[in-house]
Amino acid sequence: MSELFSTLSMREVEVPNRLAVSPMCQYSCEPDGLPTEWHRVHLGSRAVGGAGIVMTEATAVEPRGRITPADLGIWSDEHAAALEPITEFVREQGGVPAIQLAHAGHKASKTRPWEGNVPIHPEENDDGWEVLSPSPSGYPPFPGDDPSIRKATHDDIADVVEAYRAAAERSLAAGFEIAEVHAAHGYLLHEFLSPATNHREDEYGGSFENRTRFVREVVTAVREVWPDDKPVFVRISGTDWLADRPSWDIEQSVRLASDLKELGVDLVDVSSGGLHPDQNPPGGPNFQVPLAEQIREETGIAVGAVGGITEPEQAEAIVQNGRADLVLVGREFLRDPYFGLRAADELADEPESWPIQYRRAVQ
Ligand code: FNR
Repeated sequence: MSELFSTLSMREVEVPNRLAVSPMCQYSCEPDGLPTEWHRVHLGSRAVGGAGIVMTEATAVEPRGRITPADLGIWSDEHAAALEPITEFVREQGGVPAIQLAHAGHKASKTRPWEGNVPIHPEENDDGWEVLSPSPSGYPPFPGDDPSIRKATHDDIADVVEAYRAAAERSLAAGFEIAEVHAAHGYLLHEFLSPATNHREDEYGGSFENRTRFVREVVTAVREVWPDDKPVFVRISGTDWLADRPSWDIEQSVRLASDLKELGVDLVDVSSGGLHPDQNPPGGPNFQVPLAEQIREETGIAVGAVGGITEPEQAEAIVQNGRADLVLVGREFLRDPYFGLRAADELADEPESWPIQYRRAVQ
């Protein structure tokens, strides 16, 4: 009996299995954050491929929250309307459409990875923009007071909270059933969480309570507009992997997860790192799973495990052993869009879980 292929019930949403496509930026919008045929085929294929949850890439809640000018966004009704055919298709395949709501903070205004992922300075290039940061210094590889970096004022923070709220409303209109707040990987909310990047002295910096205030405000706003019968996820970095300096670690993650549970968050999606180039993660298969497991054990909140999960049996063992409630798979779903079908075939031997159009391949 496969646990990976058992239903995950969260509020009124029934996820048909415990396998999710992890959010993965495609840097393929042309222009202005609108999805293209690429997004439709990319996400659609993975829905055909048997994922229980198909999550969009980091989707910017406002234009300056994009990592690159080609990132996906949801800051207007036009964006929501353009995403709707994708959510419809995912649902038609039996999957649950999810959206990751993101703000890239001081890691924004960069070229795409295949163009070097270097900052685009607005003074030099019209494609760039001023980026938001908790502190007046940029992403660590580019130190110093960068003129294109803006230390977030209280008004900026309030604007971002409202942008998240509006983005969640539009996501609902677009047909998404799960909203995930991106608070990991060194982007805006994580930059506020970590003492390695948050050097503020106001009520958004210093103590744990102050550093977590912004993410709690965002989650509260999203939860207020996201219906009671639909789940909210939060992706966090369980640790910065910076043991040699004040930074974000698993103890703080456990404490935050417990606060998030109180705020009505249904699942914490536990990744790690991404904040600082000096990070020292162990890497390898399952390397982030112990972080998810600890949060689950110590808070009782449902967790997602991600990172280095490539084999059906490996994913099955994570769920069977009670280490996580959901397994998110990134690169293996790029290598094989039908990873979910392959896993179903190996673990559950259920040809009927294959799309009718493809069933002759397994009968
Ligand atoms: C990512 N990742 C990522 N994470 C996230 O939270 N939002 C995002 O938009 C992206 N974008 C992205 C793009 C690409 C091309 C890759 C490969 C990765 C991280 C991803 O969701 C996942 O956490 C990691 O890739 C680790 O899982 P795997 O790939 O080992 O299964």
